[in-house]
Amino acid sequence: MGKITLKTLDKMKADGEKIACLTAYDYTFARILDTQGVDIQLVGDSLGMVLHGKTTTLNVSMADMIYHTRLVADGCHRGLIVADMPFMSYASSARALGNAERLLREGGAEVVKLEGGAIITGTVNHLSARGIPVCAHLGLTPQSVHKLGGYHVQGRNEPGAATIQRDAMALADAGAVMLVLECVPAELAMEISRSLSIPVIGIGAGNQCDGQVLVLYDVLGLGERQPRFSHNFLTGHDSIASAIKAYVDAVKSGIFPAEEHSF
Ligand code: KIV
Repeated sequence: MGKITLKTLDKMKADGEKIACLTAYDYTFARILDTQGVDIQLVGDSLGMVLHGKTTTLNVSMADMIYHTRLVADGCHRGLIVADMPFMSYASSARALGNAERLLREGGAEVVKLEGGAIITGTVNHLSARGIPVCAHLGLTPQSVHKLGGYHVQGRNEPGAATIQRDAMALADAGAVMLVLECVPAELAMEISRSLSIPVIGIGAGNQCDGQVLVLYDVLGLGERQPRFSHNFLTGHDSIASAIKAYVDAVKSGIFPAEEHSF
């Protein structure tokens, strides 16, 4: 299996082959995920919750992200490495450019992920025009947890859904190469996935997206509680590698997510 690039992902979308993505934070898990066929390894700022034990991702620093991205880059040779830009690290276009440069140069990231809608299209364009690929993130955007009033499904009503749809289009027009949709109704995610030419990766967004992402520790049943949209793939498997393979197979075959994981 060759190295996964953005071109590979575009072809997978065009061919209807589902993209399997998981979060990763260190060398050993990155190596296991890579050997089991995970297409994208996301160094998520969810590390603030699952590694640091905090209730939000707001504590995560650039130093944390560079450190963990570098560990993942050492173990991941086939999958595409996407790294989150932490809270406020892209509050202006100039700041975003400097920090994204560090994630690519020092961390070994291949794509950076930013949360937010229309307000960040200028920044997305600023990075993209300078050769830095950007993954956008809409729906439940955890860095805005206080503004959102908690971790809730987004886009349930008509104006909310319309805003997410408009933002998705604007981010793709600004040069985003990929979009993560978190905790939105399955039908809305399906419409957005069909209307955009870039790959759309869902988490709690139904099974009609171009791919799926979950937090690794949830997939291994290590979380304090299992989010409704996730599943413990270690159940019934005798190794972490076989659990990861089961996740990849379930995403590729369209079995996961099922109705009960969707909104
Ligand atoms: O930080 C993260 O792990 C994420 C995923 C949950 C999409 O952004």
